[in-house]
Amino acid sequence: MYYVKESIKNCLRIFPQQGRSSYLRLDMNENPEGLPKKYVDEVLKELTPEFLSMYPETDMFMEKYAGYVGAHKENICTTNGSDMAIRYIMEVFVEEGKNVVTVTPSFEMYGVNCDMLGFKHKPVPYRQDFTVRIEDVLEAMDEDTDMVALLNPNNPIGTVFTEEEADRVIEKANKVGAIVVIDEAYHYFYPESFIKKALENDNVLVLRTFSKLCSLASLRLGIIIGNPVLIRYIMKARPTFDVNAVALKFGEYLLDHKEIFDYLISIEKEGRKFIENKLIENKYEYMIHKGNYVFIKPRQEASAMKEALKERKILVKTYGNELLKDWIRINTGSVKVMNEFFDIFYRLDHEAQ
Ligand SMILES: Cc1ncc(COP(=O)(O)O)c(C=O)c1O
Repeated sequence: MYYVKESIKNCLRIFPQQGRSSYLRLDMNENPEGLPKKYVDEVLKELTPEFLSMYPETDMFMEKYAGYVGAHKENICTTNGSDMAIRYIMEVFVEEGKNVVTVTPSFEMYGVNCDMLGFKHKPVPYRQDFTVRIEDVLEAMDEDTDMVALLNPNNPIGTVFTEEEADRVIEKANKVGAIVVIDEAYHYFYPESFIKKALENDNVLVLRTFSKLCSLASLRLGIIIGNPVLIRYIMKARPTFDVNAVALKFGEYLLDHKEIFDYLISIEKEGRKFIENKLIENKYEYMIHKGNYVFIKPRQEASAMKEALKERKILVKTYGNELLKDWIRINTGSVKVMNEFFDIFYRLDHEAQ
């Protein structure tokens, strides 16, 4: 009988729904409408047969990205989405039998990667008031902690850590010998960044992605920023060609047209304000923190609302855990998208009364 790694046998995976393209997608924090078409068309013009026949080269993109965040090329490593960044960091910096500290609920792939790789996951729960106490995180970190992840803002609850809180975690991580991962997947919707912590410390890595604001989730382009020694270790752990050339080309194009970032931010901000006003006007309980997502408490059961919306071709997210079980979460989009969602949501919620 062939060998199967025990941690893979026992790992619980939920694979994403397929066929989502015919739905209004408000369930995975993507930009539901994508980039303006003229930008996409411009890049597509450069995808010649010769370009596609060549193995990808990352230097140009890395130089542009480094310049964009005030770092050097040696501080940057590209990955096949930040999902893959999480995997590499754990493979390189977490020892067998040691633990990884995150908050919970959080982006599932931190826990899933621990399960896949056979590491202990120490999830620190949110309190009933939807906040995390930094003391709880610090308390969870012990001599066996090799990695702690701070998602800033967190997904799904978009809370953020203050600089003082981040410093306390970094200090404790130094004491116990752990790497601190600061995941800034939703950075652009929330302007603060801890990149300088990654550049100043020798145990801090910041993750960024082109999947969310930059609207390129299909291309899988993630970035790790950190001290050159850490980055070098991660590069040794990567396959030779990890990120594809089309993703790098789109990334370079956006970095050459930075005005697009402000444009996309303004579209999301207007949409977020619009949906917030609708929820206030119609007396809905809601939570809006710092990411491109909103929690709404429907008057009917959250799971029934999710199914009713799905029948109307709208995908939203619900959660099984006690803290979030009464809520649906949608990611935001333009005013047009938010209007389309709210019209149908409101009608369905009233029909069910
Ligand atoms: C906090 C966080 N980190 C990382 C990711 C992964 O993003 P990607 O692999 O598309 O770069 C996500 C995706 O939802 C996320 O929410």
